[in-house]
Formats: sequence, C-alpha cells, structure tokens
Amino acid sequence: MAKITQFSLQNFRNFDQAWLKLAPGLNLIVGDNAAGKTSLIEGIWVLATGRSFRTVKPSQLIQQTHADLTLFAEVEQDGQTHKLGLNRTEHSSTLRLNGETIHSQALLANKLPVQLLTPESHRLLEEGPKARRQFLDWGCFHQYPTFSQAWRHYQRILKQRNHALRQKLPKAQTTLWDAQLLETAEQVHQIRQAYTEQLKPYLDEFCQAMMPELQLDIQLGYKSGWPKNAASLAQLLQDHYAKDAQQGFTQYGCHRADLSFKLDGQDALVKLSRGQQKLFVCALLLAQASVYEKHSNAPVIMLIDDLPAELDAQHRLTLLKLLDCLNIQHIISTTAEELVSVLNPKTTQIFQVKHGQIISD
Ligand SMILES: Nc1ncnc2c1ncn2[C@@H]1O[C@H](COP(=O)(O)OP(=O)(O)O)[C@@H](O)[C@H]1O
Ligand SMILES: [Mg+2]
Repeated sequence: MAKITQFSLQNFRNFDQAWLKLAPGLNLIVGDNAAGKTSLIEGIWVLATGRSFRTVKPSQLIQQTHADLTLFAEVEQDGQTHKLGLNRTEHSSTLRLNGETIHSQALLANKLPVQLLTPESHRLLEEGPKARRQFLDWGCFHQYPTFSQAWRHYQRILKQRNHALRQKLPKAQTTLWDAQLLETAEQVHQIRQAYTEQLKPYLDEFCQAMMPELQLDIQLGYKSGWPKNAASLAQLLQDHYAKDAQQGFTQYGCHRADLSFKLDGQDALVKLSRGQQKLFVCALLLAQASVYEKHSNAPVIMLIDDLPAELDAQHRLTLLKLLDCLNIQHIISTTAEELVSVLNPKTTQIFQVKHGQIISD
C-alpha cells in the first residue's frame, strides 16, 4: 500500500505551519474560499513532483516575507515507512529521503505516487499535447524503471541537435546526434506504446462505471510523434534535414507524442458535454490508478481539489465509491462538507481550515 500517514508544511502559501495526520481512506479538507484548501493539496503535489499545478514561479509558493518553505510527509509503502522532505528557496531546492539528502525528484515521486484532479483537469482533453504527454509519462515512469532515464537522455540529445540546427553547423555535425536520438526514441516509444495498450481495457471499464449511460465505443490512440505511414523515424530525420535546418528544430520525434481519445470515431471533445469530459478525465485517472495497482500491488494516492465543482451529486458518489472500493487514499477539498459523502467513517478524517490554519480534525 502507499498511504500518506502524516503531512506537514511550513511557510507554504498562507500557512505558517500545519500538521495533518491523515486517514487511510477519505481525507476531507473543508473551509471557506481562500482558507488554504488548495494550498494543502498543492503542497502534497509539490513534494511529490517538485512542481506546482498553479504556478511556475517557486517564489509564489513561499509564504510572503519568508525566504524558504518546507514540506514533509511520512509515507507507508510495502510495509515500510519513508520520510520525504523538500525545502525550497526561490532559486534552489533540497530534497531529503529517510534522513539523507538526495538529488533526484524522481526518488520522491516514486515513494509518493499521487494523481491529481482539479477543476481544470478537463483541459487534458482540450489543450495541446503537453498535458497528455505528462499524463502518459506519469504511467510510464511509475511502471518502467528505465523510462525516466531514456526520456531525459532523449531530451538532452534533442536539445543538442536543435542547438546545432539553430547554429547552422555543418550537416555532419548535426546528424552526429541522430544515432543516439534514434536509440533513445525507440526506448521511449516502445514503453509509451506498451503502456497505452495496458490502459485501454481499464479506460473502457471506468468509463462504463462513471457514465453507464454512454454507450459508445471508446478508442484510446497513441501517436508516436511521427507519421504512422513513415518508413522509419531514421528515414524521416534524413528526409527532413533541410526543413529542420531551416526551422532550427527537429520536427519529428518523441517530443511530439500525443494521445487521442475518440468515441465512436469522433473526438471526445466533440462527443462529450463539459460535465462528461470531467467524468472522462476521472475515468482516465482511475484507469491509470488500476494499471499502477496491478504492477506495483499498491494503490495510488488521489488528490482532488474542489470536488463539488467537479461533479454533480450522483457522479460524486460514484467516484467516492470507486475510490473506496479500490482502497485509494483520497484527499479532497470542499467548501461544503455535506456535499461529500462519508462512506467509511473508520477510514475518514475531516480537517477544517481557516486563514491558513487547521482549526480542528
Ligand atoms: N505566497 C503566499 N504568501 C501568503 N499568502 C498566500 C501566498 N500565496 C497565496 N496566498 C494566499 O493564500 C490564500 C489561500 O489560497 P487557496 O489555497 O487558494 O485557498 P482555497 O483553496 O481555500 O480557496 C489566499 O488568500 C491567497 O491570497
Ligand atoms: Mg481552492
């Protein structure tokens, strides 16, 4: 199992200091607007991923008038307890795992497999491919130990190749990078493709569970980042060298990968209402949670910011039942406690938040 047993933050957003002892099931964070609910959820996300879902500026996370923030969690995984810490100033961060300083955020991400649902989550369907690639790569990272290194390696080589293109270096110096680019591209591509295949049956299952009224055939498509009908990426790199050189970047490759979601052959965005799009994203996350559970034998931890704004009463209940059934620890924020049903009081904890303080639990 993976469960956060304790979480604390210091000088994070509007919190001076807060400490939460979390329950293994539902953790409900209740408070008025601007109390600090999203900040608590954001704190857990930042500890796990090193990034915020609200800002790219770390300085915004640090409480005004302070120089640094600290996040800490105790996580139980496979019968072991891990202590995760992150300290962040405006320009640097220090990570700690079980008392030792570490240099890779991936080690913390590995111990804290969190998924996130916010009122903006439906953007996964309507925005550019970056968010979908991140979704896909979350699964690849957690399941395939070689993925993260291959993907980082690929991005490094791509950067070198693009730099050479922009500098208008001689062709031989640019294409020098192609062999390594192709090798890492193949590794990344194989993993992404295999992962998407695993996701498919679960997506069907959870779409059915979340939206039984939707009797449509769901197709989850994986796009590698180069045309399907191309002989090979190697051939494409060669054939498009002149264009790449003219534009100053590499047109085809894993950095252009994407997922497509179709219902009866039509784009999910066209076929689904806004409400259904949110449910579809829930189904995607639950599918991912199930694939994770299958290979690691441990459930993910689900963070849900502002559940009532996300779903109507009936679908809220369906989601809560699924999370309870799947034994997923879930941390949910809401302005109105009565809108979130407590299904299992023994595994539930309620936190009242006011002006950056936990006033009861
Ligand atoms: N760096 C910061 N320092 C101090 N206060 C902050 C900082 N960043 C945000 N806040 C304040 O924290 C409050 C809590 O915001 P938020 O977590 O979004 O509340 P909620 O989700 O409960 O509506 C807001 O009033 C916001 O102005
Ligand atoms: Mg909020």
